[in-house]
Amino acid sequence: MSKYPYKIVAISGSLRKESKNKKLLTYCFENSPSELDIEIIDISTIPLFNQDIEDAGFPESVLHLRKKVREADGLLLGCPEYNTSVSGVLKNAIDWISRRDPDGYPFSRKPVMIVGATTGRLGTARAQKELRVIMANLNTFPMNKPELFVAEAKDHIDSQGLQDENMQNILDKMMINFIKWIETLKK
Ligand SMILES: Cc1cc2nc3c(=O)[nH]c(=O)nc-3n(C[C@H](O)[C@H](O)[C@H](O)COP(=O)(O)O)c2cc1C
Repeated sequence: MSKYPYKIVAISGSLRKESKNKKLLTYCFENSPSELDIEIIDISTIPLFNQDIEDAGFPESVLHLRKKVREADGLLLGCPEYNTSVSGVLKNAIDWISRRDPDGYPFSRKPVMIVGATTGRLGTARAQKELRVIMANLNTFPMNKPELFVAEAKDHIDSQGLQDENMQNILDKMMINFIKWIETLKK
């Protein structure tokens, strides 16, 4: 059983430099309780999934990501909404991580915390719902509550990061609950 701090791998589903979703992960990184050690992993070098490439051997960037996920005590996913669903880059990374190797499945039984921000009015609710289904099918355990749906993100997140105090409070509470969720699943 791991000891504190729990290692959390954070992945943003948007590669954009000024990504609002990345800024949510950065808020967690900068304000995490001492029980959580959050590392934001860059997935911009992950190639498009191609089973021919997989058959030839996982590329270096994919091996690195899979290792990080396998060693993590939990995952934090920043989920933008593209065309009512999960972004292509996030789904692509998930597809690479989902594959079995001689050590099994890197995702197996990982606790997952999901957050999302959009310029739209529904706060990534549709994409998050789909992401939950995908992650549950991969035998991970998405935390149910609290949830964070940042709608009209420009009103809440600026170039300096998440400014909305209510949303900061929700993220703080999510992280506390995530510690409990990780510990529940470790029992
Ligand atoms: C291809 C594309 C499709 C999008 N579709 C949606 C959508 O279905 N719902 C929504 O709320 N926002 C949608 N958006 C807006 C994104 O949520 C917005 O660009 C958001 O800021 C992206 O996250 P980021 O700031 O982390 O890059 C879309 C954006 C793009 C580029």
